[in-house]
Amino acid sequence: MNQRILIGVAWPYANTPFHLGHLAGAEIPPDILARYHRLRGNQVLMISGSDTHGTPITLAAEQRGITPIEVVEECHRCFIDALSKLGISFDLYTHTETENHYRVTIDIFNRLLERGFIYKETIQAFYDTEANRFLSDRYVEGICPFCNTEGARGDQCDACGKPLDALQLIDPHSKLTRSIPEVRDTEHFFIDLAHFNEALKEWVADKTYWRSQVLNFTLKMLDEGLRGRAITRDIDWGIPVPVKGYEHKRIYVWFDAVIGYLSASIEWSANQGSPDAWRAWWDAQADCRSYYFIGKDNTFFHTLIWPAILMGYGDLQLPYDVPANEFLTLEGRKISSSRNWAVWAKDYLERYDPDPLRYYLTAAAPETSDLDFTWQGFYDHNNNELVATWGNLANRMLSFCYKNYDQRVSFPGELDEADREILAQVEAAFEPIGQEIEACRFRNALGSVMALAREANRYLDAAAPWKVIKSDPARAATICYVALRVVDSLKILFLPFLPNSCQALHRMLGYDSDLIGQQQVEEFTEAERSHLGLTYRPPHTEEDLWRPSELPAGQALCEPAPLYRKLDPSIVEEELVRLGVAHGA
Ligand code: MF3
Ligand code: ZN
Repeated sequence: MNQRILIGVAWPYANTPFHLGHLAGAEIPPDILARYHRLRGNQVLMISGSDTHGTPITLAAEQRGITPIEVVEECHRCFIDALSKLGISFDLYTHTETENHYRVTIDIFNRLLERGFIYKETIQAFYDTEANRFLSDRYVEGICPFCNTEGARGDQCDACGKPLDALQLIDPHSKLTRSIPEVRDTEHFFIDLAHFNEALKEWVADKTYWRSQVLNFTLKMLDEGLRGRAITRDIDWGIPVPVKGYEHKRIYVWFDAVIGYLSASIEWSANQGSPDAWRAWWDAQADCRSYYFIGKDNTFFHTLIWPAILMGYGDLQLPYDVPANEFLTLEGRKISSSRNWAVWAKDYLERYDPDPLRYYLTAAAPETSDLDFTWQGFYDHNNNELVATWGNLANRMLSFCYKNYDQRVSFPGELDEADREILAQVEAAFEPIGQEIEACRFRNALGSVMALAREANRYLDAAAPWKVIKSDPARAATICYVALRVVDSLKILFLPFLPNSCQALHRMLGYDSDLIGQQQVEEFTEAERSHLGLTYRPPHTEEDLWRPSELPAGQALCEPAPLYRKLDPSIVEEELVRLGVAHGA
């Protein structure tokens, strides 16, 4: 097929490590799409990085009594560790504190300024007279003027999702000193979003395939009419404003964060030694689709602000789809990093394998409504589906064949109707399941693959080769061959979701090729600074591997081992004790 697919993944703030909410919302879904397209032989570029600017970082630094860069470096390392253990196949995972990112951001700022899409205005902002400084949005809290919820942050109301100006808050107070802030004049740069309102409407008009929550939210904002938004701040952490006399002000974190998608693509190209490679995914004329994976609270910036920036800059690809996810809750309650109501990725990965988590968070994915993560749910999905249905199917057939047919794939005789039917059913599933994945309906797609595994188990239970072998070894060899071929096909269908275990199965089936590629942590140096990046080398193939098995009869198998571990029921209680909601025995 050889299509180009750009996959942008939300840039997590580098102030708190990943919890499962990040993984379900933005990290696991894009990896499914990326691995699927790579199997098809398409050219995927998947990028992201740590969002190192903004008040979440400075707030964390102040609380901990360390510098912002120390906060960032510690967290970035931690992100990279979790991403590589989970097998999220970023072509490049970088961060926004690189010289390259500064250069690209400044170039975009300057061009929009030149073209008149960025203007200057004196505005009023909150000033904390006790702390002697302007308060950026996140340093102010109050009541949301739209939905009346208390505790709304000055940049955005989490309850209704609307972006805010801190000045709109009712009963504002400073998060630094709890004092009531004073309103003072200050000069800032604005992006003229109103200018793009009509063009954005036209652009959204054919996005009927977007998730309805995303589309409705976007259309509503456009109908209400976009207004100019300040993209600079009176703070001392971030990219300095590249205009004479304004260097002491900084570019607003969100303006530079979304630009990260472009700058990371450019950095990736430079690292490859072909500085213009990114253009094949980004030029407006390129035959490419770009997808952006985010949590729903980031919708405004990806369906409106980022497209407006891209339109203003010109000649670049606009998003094709922004499949924003709803939230993950944990044991019935909203996840909260600050209150430590979270399952941290690091803790999970120390105790369990990555694929069972990828399975549960996709089988119940928060695509259309919130997902409540429970340890009981995790246990059930692992034991009753992954182990009992899929793992067992693969393992019992591999072991049977390994033991009875000289450690080889058995030689089939003539196929009967049931044999032909199960093979046909699996073969027919590739196209529709592929389409579901392309449409980012991962939960449905995975459900269909698991349903096929159930069918295969039914076929096997009826055919019962372990009985037949005593009276008719040739017929048993045929059943065994059919079953292994089904397993071999399911291996491909499951691979985007469960890459690690499917690669292991691939080896057991006697293949020696690499289907999942290689990840590595690399250190990059530019000027005097160096930074860590996570990189990925795809397996070298442009072949379309999204197709039914052609398992060669007689192929030598490798010694089978269980693909998944059956969990002990005690882990549920154990994890609830860790969360502090149950008492240990
Ligand atoms: N760091 C922000 C957040 O975690 C935004 C990430 S998305 C991107 O909410 F647009 F900045 F990339
Ligand atoms: Zn609100």
